[in-house]
Amino acid sequence: MNSPKVLYACSEVYPLLKTGGLADVSAGLPPALAAQGVDVCLLLPAFPDVVAGVEPEGPSLLVPAGGTMGLPTGLGPWPRPAPGPSPWLQRGRITASGQAVMLLHAPGLFDRPGNPYHDASGKPWADAADQFAWLGWAAALLGTGLDSGWIPDLVHGHDWHTGLAFAYLHGLAASGHRRPATVFTIHNLAYQGVFPPEVRGRLGLPDALFHIDGLEFHGQVSFMKAGLQYSDAITTVSPGYAREITGEEQGCGLDGLLRQRRPVLHGILNGVDDAVWDPANDALVQPGFDADHLQGKAVAKAALQRRMGLQERSDALLFVVVSRLTEQKGLHLLPGVVDDLVQRGGQLAVLGAGDPQIEGALQHAAQHHPGQVALHIGYDEALAHGVIAGGDVILVPSRFEPCGLTQLYGLRYGTLPLVRAVGGLADTVVDCSLEHLDDGSASGFVFHDLSLQGLSGAMRRAFALRRRPNDWQAVQRHGMALRFDWARAATDTLKVYRLSLAATHGTATA
Ligand code: ADP
Ligand code: GLC
Repeated sequence: MNSPKVLYACSEVYPLLKTGGLADVSAGLPPALAAQGVDVCLLLPAFPDVVAGVEPEGPSLLVPAGGTMGLPTGLGPWPRPAPGPSPWLQRGRITASGQAVMLLHAPGLFDRPGNPYHDASGKPWADAADQFAWLGWAAALLGTGLDSGWIPDLVHGHDWHTGLAFAYLHGLAASGHRRPATVFTIHNLAYQGVFPPEVRGRLGLPDALFHIDGLEFHGQVSFMKAGLQYSDAITTVSPGYAREITGEEQGCGLDGLLRQRRPVLHGILNGVDDAVWDPANDALVQPGFDADHLQGKAVAKAALQRRMGLQERSDALLFVVVSRLTEQKGLHLLPGVVDDLVQRGGQLAVLGAGDPQIEGALQHAAQHHPGQVALHIGYDEALAHGVIAGGDVILVPSRFEPCGLTQLYGLRYGTLPLVRAVGGLADTVVDCSLEHLDDGSASGFVFHDLSLQGLSGAMRRAFALRRRPNDWQAVQRHGMALRFDWARAATDTLKVYRLSLAATHGTATA
């Protein structure tokens, strides 16, 4: 199959709607796949920000409920999510990029302001199971040929939000419906979409799927497990994470299943979108810079210090963070090293939002060290570029990290990553040990123990390297020259598509 048609189902895409790296991937990978001949159409829930960024094209399609589809016993009938019209699909194109999309409109489910996953108090939306069951159902129906003008050869779903698509496709195939090839990508195994067993009736999930080798997880319904169980192939976003999740420590209770599925589990490292993250051509960072012209980086540092209310000192080693402030990111350790960091003449600028405890502790540190430590709570795309460009060292001390993108952006912008050796961080950053300095492979600072000692040891190595400007520059240059491009990730993803297409249709592999 030369140009496979792929339905790429996900819940967010940059620049329309972004809460994390998933959105960057949904923007970066599809065009790279298209450049290699794949006909990709995104399927997204019609959240208001998404609708606002899409130009509709052609007529809409109704999404029929389960009971009307001649499904096997137990599947459907589906409830209407709210009085009013049934869910429908609208084809269109993302205005900014021209990317083909299919938007799932479901009255009452997606058309609300705020975060796509939780309410203003941070609690998950009460109807999350219904929201993403409909996304899965729409993906499954498109896979069976609902839109006769565009029938995908393969359905590629991302994270738990799309997991049920694979269970529905399994059920539909059992009753004689067309079965496309399927690939499921784990971006974060820690978020699983687990709901009480009572949702089964409502979501049209038959008892036949509710067992340990199905989508049952400790008596509950797991959307993530459905994706892992019923897809032809599974990918995740770094080779390191692919290994880690087959072990107990990072397996989040699903390591047994992942060990069973190891033959079809592939770790494919994410890429960096050059159109968005390139210090020489970044509209949000002026003037631009590259490894041979670093004056722009010094300007960005001074601008960042002013913007964040830090003392404008070029000699202060400026540590930065751009992150969700959660346990995952290991940032609970940060307040414990701030005093030492400041005493050594460093500064800290944090952009992030999340756990109120971490926010509070960092706020306290900022109050305690005015002019040296600054915190901006919130989500701000433009400031994120300014922080990554202006910092000297970007901190990513994660407890676990499927891939991580900010360390890759840091490398590109000459902001040396300081990371914990886990998942994609361990795959992408090489510590400044003497041997790595000697062979030219060093690109940042890597520590192992998730402890204050581990983190502060790596920070001390950063201060020590800064006192050796030639070595610092060599490391910076090496990092800036590294390329984690989407073309390579697309080539590897296409290989997985071909394997799964071959398994489904018996077509030749590339
Ligand atoms: P995760 O997806 O686990 O949050 P990643 O490193 O893969 O982590 O991706 C995070 C993405 O979100 C990056 O593009 C980063 O720049 C962005 N980001 C995180 N926090 C913020 C914030 N507070 N403001 C702006 N962008 C942010
Ligand atoms: C998840 C992971 C992050 C990864 C991103 C994109 O949010 O936490 O490590 O980079 O997905 O794949």
